Amino acid sequence: MIRFDQVHKRYANGREALAGVTLNIASGEMVFLTGHSGAGKSSILKLIALIERPTRGQVWVDTQNTATIRPRGIPEFRSRLGVVFQDHKLIVDRSVAENVALPLIIAGLSQREIDKRVRAALDQVGLLDKDKLRPLELSTGEQQRIGIARAVVAKPKLLIADEPTGNLDPELALEIIQLFKRFNDVGVTVVIASHDVHLIDHLNARRIVLGEGRVTGEAPPHAAQAAAQAASHASLHTASSAAGRPPAGTPR
Ligand SMILES: Nc1ncnc2c1ncn2[C@@H]1O[C@H](COP(=O)(O)OP(=O)(O)O)[C@@H](O)[C@H]1O
Ligand SMILES: [Mg+2]
Repeated sequence: MIRFDQVHKRYANGREALAGVTLNIASGEMVFLTGHSGAGKSSILKLIALIERPTRGQVWVDTQNTATIRPRGIPEFRSRLGVVFQDHKLIVDRSVAENVALPLIIAGLSQREIDKRVRAALDQVGLLDKDKLRPLELSTGEQQRIGIARAVVAKPKLLIADEPTGNLDPELALEIIQLFKRFNDVGVTVVIASHDVHLIDHLNARRIVLGEGRVTGEAPPHAAQAAAQAASHASLHTASSAAGRPPAGTPR
């Protein structure tokens, strides 16, 4: 789904954010990009979303060499990608439903189809009853779930998230990550940048460790992590129902 081949990224100020990154993420994987602040995590996501272009090397997304995508092709490319930001970038003077509907309005879907898909996406994040509220009437965790609903409403095959739990306390952060996991369970490829090592330790997910713009390590899922994940999952289920139900339908 994603391939970086000797990718370098130097910003206009001369700063080399990525210094020869090679990585492969298969379709259907859930992967964490970790590493200290400034390691290059966000830069990798920006290259995947075509917010930035590599200075050298190649970035492939969904079998497409992104170098072949011209500026006028970017909207279509992005419509196949779900993006979640730390600060969720919701429009405060629009309702929750209108915020989630945005990618579909841009795609020109009929109102009837938009209503149907928005309801499905809100259901998947457990917030169907909040559709008429404004973002600021929701808690931080709920706002982030709305951001996720908006990212999945167009049924992307690939979901990328930049520090999606950065503003959340540990319990809410785990709920958000488990929500991503549910989309991954139904086949969506998920790439999450996070410096929260403690959170990632809970999960049986692959991680790619970055340092100084290079891949410095890889940790495949292993048995100890799987056990930790199962334990945390169980305790979360008994401790709280705030995570909502599992997605009612698949997002694709
Ligand atoms: N738009 C930009 N212009 C100049 N330098 C940038 C820009 N974005 C990121 N950088 C620099 O590139 C390096 C990597 O940043 P980033 O990819 O945001 O790392 P991370 O997300 O791991 O914190 C940092 O030194 C950062 O200051
Ligand atoms: Mg970052």
